[in-house]
Amino acid sequence: MMRIDVVTVFPGMFSGYVAESMMARASQQQVLSITLHDLRDFTDDPHRVVDDTPFGGGGGMVLKPEPIARAVESISASRNGSNPIVCIIPTPRAPLFTQSDANELAQSGQLIFVCGHYTGIDERVFEHLNARRYSIGDYVLTGGELPVMVMIDAIARRLPGFLGNDESAVGDSHVRADGGLGFPQYTRPAVWRDRAVPEVLISGHHAHVSDWRAQQAREATQRFRPDLVNDNKTAPALRT
Ligand code: 6GU
Repeated sequence: MMRIDVVTVFPGMFSGYVAESMMARASQQQVLSITLHDLRDFTDDPHRVVDDTPFGGGGGMVLKPEPIARAVESISASRNGSNPIVCIIPTPRAPLFTQSDANELAQSGQLIFVCGHYTGIDERVFEHLNARRYSIGDYVLTGGELPVMVMIDAIARRLPGFLGNDESAVGDSHVRADGGLGFPQYTRPAVWRDRAVPEVLISGHHAHVSDWRAQQAREATQRFRPDLVNDNKTAPALRT
């Protein structure tokens, strides 16, 4: 079972996500266990202060390094196995989190996520914890909670036993062998508000269905995400 610990000043933001749907099933079936930790529990002053003003001025507040280091060290000390623990801190100042990161992180036995807030986190804590940093996209969010939920979701889908027997990730957008987008889906009724389902899907001809889906997937990738098309990736520079 994969163990995930999350350090946050807003543990309540996770309760709905962790208690509902796929995540609830994952913990019942012992595929994944998520433990929330309140960063304020790792302060040592009566006001439980986790932030301070930035050196060098400028607005906003910065998360202090000590409570974060204590939280991560206390979680590490209570670890179960001997696998190395990976510490991940979301921040917009980071490389983008991709499907291959999700696939790779799903191989770890234990992950610790630290949610930043305010203007940022003291930079020394990244170095001290040897933390990985990831951004989930080119826009700014208020804190690390939503990015952490996004990353946990993408990682959990890659855990053995997370998806049901009749579900598979192989055809999913980004998970496909070609790294491209998936094919379109349809369900009953076969004609809905004058729109018919593509004929091939009700033909019963499996080879035709799979050719059609592959073609639709290629077209969607070309149209919506040309940056993901293989022959579009930067070719090596010509030498002559
Ligand atoms: Cl990881 N954090 C915040 N605060 N904003 C973001 C982000 C992360 N990724 C994209 N925007």
